[in-house]
Amino acid sequence: MSKPRALRLGVNIDHVATVRNARGGQVPDPVRAAQLAIEAGADGITAHLREDRRHIMDDDILRLKETISKPLNLEMAATTQMLDIALKVRPHAACLVPEKRTERTTEGGLDVVAAHNHLKPFVSELSRAGIRVSLFVEPSIAALDVARSVGAPVIELHTGAWCHALDTGDAERAGREHGRLRVAAAHAAEIGLECHAGHGLNYQTAEKIAELPSIVELNIGHFLIGEAIFTGLSEAIRLMRRSMDAGRARAVQ
Ligand code: PXP
Repeated sequence: MSKPRALRLGVNIDHVATVRNARGGQVPDPVRAAQLAIEAGADGITAHLREDRRHIMDDDILRLKETISKPLNLEMAATTQMLDIALKVRPHAACLVPEKRTERTTEGGLDVVAAHNHLKPFVSELSRAGIRVSLFVEPSIAALDVARSVGAPVIELHTGAWCHALDTGDAERAGREHGRLRVAAAHAAEIGLECHAGHGLNYQTAEKIAELPSIVELNIGHFLIGEAIFTGLSEAIRLMRRSMDAGRARAVQ
């Protein structure tokens, strides 16, 4: 039995910007939150520049790129405007996500099967610029196979349906969704894709998902920023790391 791989924590700071934008002005500053998150043990910072700029703004992305000491993962829709920004900013990584103006958060993964031809040039251009591209997908074998065929080196599994089933006490659905995540994570490793996961995770679900050995990064935002109100961001990140480490210690390769 080999030692399970390290599990990175990417902290999504979008909702610090949500609070700032509720009043306008400069505070609370998501860049300050990113710096604090890194000091507290985050391995990277994730930010979603949405088309409607409802939370993160263009200037936040520029300041994050200039100031943070860990990798920046830019979540973005596959549009030419976002591609131009990514090529200018050159984040370490870009995660392509579906985006609907009416949604409160990223509701599902990319429909990569239908969008194959649309996504391919985005993956190529970003990769050519040295940006590590991931596709945010539902945990399905077909989606992973298409992600590989468009040349993405990384996929991020959408954990939202599983987390939602647990939150609403739907144990049967939760079991089914967890099974899909387990199978998809194993398939990603088999076909040579780096596997990340995220959406809706909390201390309990992060611990559980950390048991899947092929997942090497979790991206977590809303829960951590919410907990920060009560415990402070550093403590929330410390507890999240502890949960992730406890789950990873049970991972079987
Ligand atoms: N990963 C991706 C691709 C996302 O779009 C989001 C939400 O912005 C997250 C992870 C984080 O989700 P949450 O804020 O629910 O932790």
